[in-house]
Amino acid sequence: MKVTVVGAGNVGATCADVIAHKDFVHEVVLLDIKEGIAEGKSLDMWQTAPINLYDTRVIGSTNDYSKTAKSDVVVITSGLPRKPGMSRDDLIATNAGIVRSVTENIIKYSPDAIIIVVSNPLDVMTYCAFLTAKVDSKKVFGMAGILDTARYRAFLAEALNTSPKDIQAVLMGGHGDTMVPLPRYTTVAGIPVTELIDKDKLDAIVDRTKKGGGELVNLMGTSAWYAPGAAAAQMVEAIIKDSQRIFPCCAMLNGQYGLKDIYLGVPVKLGKNGIEEIIELKLNDDEMKLLHASAKSVKEVMDVLDNMNQPAVK
Ligand code: NAI
Ligand code: 2OP
Repeated sequence: MKVTVVGAGNVGATCADVIAHKDFVHEVVLLDIKEGIAEGKSLDMWQTAPINLYDTRVIGSTNDYSKTAKSDVVVITSGLPRKPGMSRDDLIATNAGIVRSVTENIIKYSPDAIIIVVSNPLDVMTYCAFLTAKVDSKKVFGMAGILDTARYRAFLAEALNTSPKDIQAVLMGGHGDTMVPLPRYTTVAGIPVTELIDKDKLDAIVDRTKKGGGELVNLMGTSAWYAPGAAAAQMVEAIIKDSQRIFPCCAMLNGQYGLKDIYLGVPVKLGKNGIEEIIELKLNDDEMKLLHASAKSVKEVMDVLDNMNQPAVK
C-alpha cells in the first residue's frame, strides 16, 4: 500500500512521520513545492527507521507527481496556515488555488486514490478538492472532527483527572467556532459525562474546544501540527486497514440531517472505499439547530468559492 502526503510543512511532515512509525504501509511519499524540503524531511524520517524499528519507506519529492503514482490514499496539507488575528476563512483564495492544482496532479497520477483534505478553511477546501477531482464524494473528505474531538477529550481528561483513552465523544459541524460538541454523546468509560462534571465546567470545556485552534495560534504564532498530523494519520490507518472505525469527518451530505450539497463534519464509518457510511444520530431540537447554524456559516464560505470560479454542485 502507498500513501502520499502533499505539503511537507508542520502538519504534512508530522502526518508522514506518524504513518511511518505505525508501519502499516509499504511507502509514504512526501511532496512539497519548496525545493528540497520534502526530500530532506523524508531522509531524516527514514533515518529514524532503524531506531524506531519500522519498514515503511519514506520518499521525498519536489513537486514531481510521478513519484506519487498509484497512491491508495493522499493527504492534502499544502497551503498557508493561520497567523494570529486571521480566521481560517481568510485563507480561502490562496489555499483554493493550491488545493485545486494539487488535486489535479494527484488525480492525474492516482485516479483511484482516496483523498483526505487538511488545508483550511477545511470544509470549503474539501469541497474544492471534490469539485476538482470529479470522483465520488465517498472518496474525498476532510480531517477536522478527530482533531476537534481530541481537544475536547483532552480537556475533559484533564478536568476529570482521568485517562484520555476512556473518553469517547462525538462532535459535529464545520471546523470553526460554530462546531457542535455533543455532551449528550460524551462518555467516560461508558458513564455519561454529565454524571461526572458540573454543567458550568462542561460548558467552559465546550467553549474552549470551539476556540481550541485559535488558542494554539495565539501561543505559537502559527497553527497546530502534532494533533492535526496524528488525526489525519488515524484516518489513513482506518482506510488502509479497512477497519470500519467511526470518526467525525468532513463529508458531503446528501439529505442527512436535512442538509444537502454541503461538506460538514458528521460521524462516518471509514474503510477501504473511503466513507462507507454516514451515521445519522437522533439529534434533539437544540442540537439540530446548532448543526444547521454551523452548516449556514460553512455554506456562506462555500458560496464564496463558487462565486470565485467554480460551478456549484447541482
Ligand atoms: P506549513 O506552512 O507548515 O506547511 C504548508 C506546506 O505546504 C509548506 O511546506 C508549503 O511549501 C507547502 N505548499 C504550498 N503550496 C504548495 C503546492 N502548491 N504544492 C505542494 N506544497 C505546497 O503549514 P501547516 O501548519 O502544515 O498547515 C497546513 C494547512 O493545514 C494550513 O492550511 C492549515 O491551516 C491547515 N490545518 C488544518 C487543520 C485541520 O484541522 N483541518 C489543523 C491544522 C492545520
Ligand atoms: C486548528 O484547528 C488551525 O485548523 C487549525 O488547529
